[in-house]
Amino acid sequence: MVSTASYDLNAVRAALPALGEVTYLNTGTVGLMAEPVLERHLAAQADYERGGHYRQAAATAAYERAREALASLINAREPDEVALTRNATDGVAILAAGLAFTPDDVVLTTTEEHPAVLLPWAAAERRGGARLRLFPISPDPEQTLAALDRALTPETRLVVVSHVSCETGVRLPVSEICRRCRERGILTLVDGAQSVGQFPVDVQAIGCDFMTGNGHKWLCGPKGTGFLYLRREHIARVQPVLIGDGAVSPSFDRIALGDRPAAAGWDFEPTARRFEYGTRNWHTFAALPNAIDYLARLGWEAVERHCATTSCLLKEELRRLPGVTLHTPLAWEQSSGLVTFAHAGWTGEDLSRRLWDGYAIIQRRVQVPSAVRVSCAYFTNSDDLERLLAALHALRG
Ligand SMILES: Cc1ncc(COP(=O)(O)O)c(C=O)c1O
Repeated sequence: MVSTASYDLNAVRAALPALGEVTYLNTGTVGLMAEPVLERHLAAQADYERGGHYRQAAATAAYERAREALASLINAREPDEVALTRNATDGVAILAAGLAFTPDDVVLTTTEEHPAVLLPWAAAERRGGARLRLFPISPDPEQTLAALDRALTPETRLVVVSHVSCETGVRLPVSEICRRCRERGILTLVDGAQSVGQFPVDVQAIGCDFMTGNGHKWLCGPKGTGFLYLRREHIARVQPVLIGDGAVSPSFDRIALGDRPAAAGWDFEPTARRFEYGTRNWHTFAALPNAIDYLARLGWEAVERHCATTSCLLKEELRRLPGVTLHTPLAWEQSSGLVTFAHAGWTGEDLSRRLWDGYAIIQRRVQVPSAVRVSCAYFTNSDDLERLLAALHALRG
């Protein structure tokens, strides 16, 4: 296999020292932060931790720049539509707690969702909210759409789908899913945890009402950074459940609140900031724009092309390996940098552990199907893939 990157892959890899120690194929869990981004990250931590409130304005300004950078990245109409969260799960949890559904309503999602989606909605059902129902997805987008059509009922209020399945790496036809839902007056939430940073993600083109995502996977930004995008017209219908200073408008005024705070004339912030309150990890967000900019400078098209070429080459090689079953579609348009495969005679759990312990190949296991998932990222090279293929060859039988 030859290098296909249109940027200097060796220089890119030199900025990721862990690659000298391990074969890192797990950006789908957490990305590696490039050294120039890390410098900014550490400087921002030091600045705020050393300066405290003296450096508040700088920390808050950096936090707002992260909101702007994310809004622009996903093509939100305005930064006010973006809430900054700790992770992709937070975004789902905010909606599961804050959308007023009843037990007569249904939230429909897929059989391949992450617990980040399943658990908040399952807990909401237990609390007396909407019933959570699942429909199967398929590598074939037409089959996924047919399954969606069969599963939609007059009770469906919200459809939640991953942009890219964290299990099989299948890319879902999210624009068409959202279009069908919109026609029926059903809200849509797209989980962008496995797509944002891999290829262009545009909430206008997708047409979703909500999108959740994070900065710590494919954007390779600071861990513990995430976002929830809410289309402007839907913000007011999502009631914050966790609330405090910063989340209300007009902002806290002890005199105005008087001795009956509940009766005073305040409301939740009209923007997505209604979900942000109290002292926050402002400085943790500071390097997120740098992480986005780092990839943008390599070129988003070049990054996508590299992930596409590398993952497609790997899939072709895996397909030829006796005993290997590929669970990810071959076509880039229906897949992503995630590649999931099984190896005869191994459970996903055992194979994953063996690749980690015996070969220093960092990946993750998949439970259903029992398999291993590897991530081809902007820095993955042919040596990485060859080490994986050689290990699989050695583990045959
Ligand atoms: C599709 C998907 N959604 C959500 C998550 C959870 O992301 P976070 O850890 O940012 O909450 C993951 C993490 O692996 C994921 O793959």
